[in-house]
Order: sequence, then structure tokens, then C-alpha cells
Amino acid sequence: MGEVLVTGGAGYIGSHIVRRLVETGRTVVVIDNLSEGSEKALPGEVELVRSDFADRARLDELFGKREIRHVIHMAALALVGDSVSDPATYYRQNVVGSLALLEAAREHQVEGIVFSSTAATYGNPVSLPIDEEHPTRPTNPYGETKLAFERALSWYRNAYGLRYVALRYFNAAGAHPDGDIGEFRRRETHLIPRLLRGILAGEETVVPIFGTDYPTTDGTCVRDYVHVVDLAEAHVHALRALEQGGMEGESFNLGNGEGFSVREVVDMVGKVTGRRPKTEDAPRRAGDPPILVASAARARERLGWQPRLPTLGEIVQTAWKWHESHPRGYES
Ligand code: UFG
Repeated sequence: MGEVLVTGGAGYIGSHIVRRLVETGRTVVVIDNLSEGSEKALPGEVELVRSDFADRARLDELFGKREIRHVIHMAALALVGDSVSDPATYYRQNVVGSLALLEAAREHQVEGIVFSSTAATYGNPVSLPIDEEHPTRPTNPYGETKLAFERALSWYRNAYGLRYVALRYFNAAGAHPDGDIGEFRRRETHLIPRLLRGILAGEETVVPIFGTDYPTTDGTCVRDYVHVVDLAEAHVHALRALEQGGMEGESFNLGNGEGFSVREVVDMVGKVTGRRPKTEDAPRRAGDPPILVASAARARERLGWQPRLPTLGEIVQTAWKWHESHPRGYES
């Protein structure tokens, strides 16, 4: 089976993947600079290499001494707003950095790569739900850089036979049902953790609702929230498909196929926590498409992926369990 290298494995989604890989009996090595992630998010038996994922010398050393046959590439910058104001940094990390990893993987006989991609590769939807045949016209550098690397993967596959699966997440949310790993960023921009942390922080915290005049049922943006544990499971399926040789190179959407408006999420947070989050109507946030809903039929058919925690209630409940018990994240 060989060993699996997970870049960004100490981060929010990465740590859920690593836990699942260990449960399936795999030997996992994580490379993470801990800019967002935490060592405490990792199982004890996993080796953590604390480094930038694109450091060629460290990668050569790692590939040289371990039997790494597959890479799950999670490490990236992932904030849409930051990518618009600072595209250079996003291109450097997400494209140039990822190409360094790809070069090292190629030279060290890695067989396959699972890549963390995003719904932001599509841009503004021209049809819904969004399937993988939908045009890819990103509206921000974040989506552009992810798409650029997907294309690099496709050309590397053609030229060198390095196989890949790119997983395009819609809105990752929730936390492990055990309540001991979850989402925590120094600067939080995402809706569900913002609402939950706002409740924990007390009365004075008000969460803005970005845009109330969208062409949706209640005027707020609609998103397809998908549980992080289900995302993790999809990576295990993707890895298995690569290991079994049944996958040359393909992109897959991961979502539940159901959209919820910002106000519906606020209501669910109120219902789950028993406390009404404080919100205020605010102007639209630049770059937000009105509606993003996935068709994940291809992932179900070709990867055998089946979400186990598909409801918004389960997503918010598990997130609340984590935040309530970890009000300062892993420092709690
Ligand atoms: N929102 C608010 N108030 C907030 C935060 C968010 O109203 O304080 C709204 C946003 O405007 C959006 C929705 O809640 O309509 C969800 O926003 P998030 O920031 O939680 O997530 P995004 O949909 O912006 O982004 C997610 C991922 C990105 C990915 C994108 C795909 O975090 O990495 O989906 O389009 F690129």
C-alpha cells in the first residue's frame, strides 16, 4: 500500500482526513508549517514534519527516507478575499509551491495525488446544480490558482503517468462527532464558525449578513454545506481508486446537493445552540456568487462516495460540540 504524505494535514480538513487514514490502517506522514494547523489535531502515531510543503530539500529528504507512494495535497491559502487583494502570494503558494511538490513527487516515483480543490473553480454558476461539466471561470485568484494546479495535474498525467483525483469541495463545515478536532482559525471568516464563536463570545458580538438583496428566496446567499467527516471519507475513496489503478485523472464535486440561505443557517444555529446569534444586515461581500449547489453524482457513482452526515442540523450540531468544548481552539 505504501505510505501517504498529507500536506496541510494538521489543518481543519486535513486533520479529519489523517484521522480517517489512520483508522483504515495506513501509515501517514504530515508536512505542515502550522500556520493554521495544530500538532494537537494529529493522532500520536503520525509523524509531523514541521515545514513549508514546497521546501524542495525537505521534500527530497522525506521522499528519500520513506516509502511514499501517494500524496494528499491539502496545504494552501484558501481565503477568497485575501486572494483578490494579494494575488501574488496566492500564485506563489498555491501554484508555484504546488509545482515544487509535484516535481518532487514525480522524481520520487509517487504514483498518485489527491488534490484539495474547490467550487470556486466554477465562478458564477450558469446552471444549477453545478456538475463537473459546468464551465470553469473563476472570479477570484483563489479559484484561479486551484484550477491552474488541476490543469497542471492533467498535463503531468499525460506526460508522466502521474495519476490524480481533484476534489472540488463546496462549503466544508462541521466537526468530528467525537468533539476533539474541528475548525479554528486565528482570523475566522466562515459563516458557521463565526456564528458559533459569536455566541460563545457573548452579547456584543454581531455577525454581518453579507447581502440581503440576492435573487434567492430570502435575499441572502445560498450554499451547499458538506460535513468535514464526509469530505475526509471522499479522500479515502479517492486514494483507494488510485491505489487500485482504476483512476487516471479526474475532478469530482463534493456537496450534498441542497442549498441553505445565510438566514436558514442563522436559524439552525439558533435552534441547535438554544441561543439566537446576533446578526446585522450588511452590504454584499465582493465576489460572492448568489447560489452554489453541487451535483455530486459523479463522486457517488465513480468513487462510491456516500455522505453520512448530510443534514444541516448534523453539521451545526457537531460544529457546536467542538466550539463549545474548545472556545480557544486547540489552546483550550
Ligand atoms: N457570510 C455572511 N457573514 C459572515 C460570513 C459569511 O453573511 O460573517 C455569508 C457569505 O457571504 C456567504 C456564506 O455566508 O454567502 C458562506 O460564506 P463562507 O465564508 O462561510 O464560505 P464561502 O461560500 O465564501 O467560501 C467557501 C470556502 C471557499 C471556497 C468557496 C467556494 O470557504 O474556500 O466556498 O465558492 F472558495
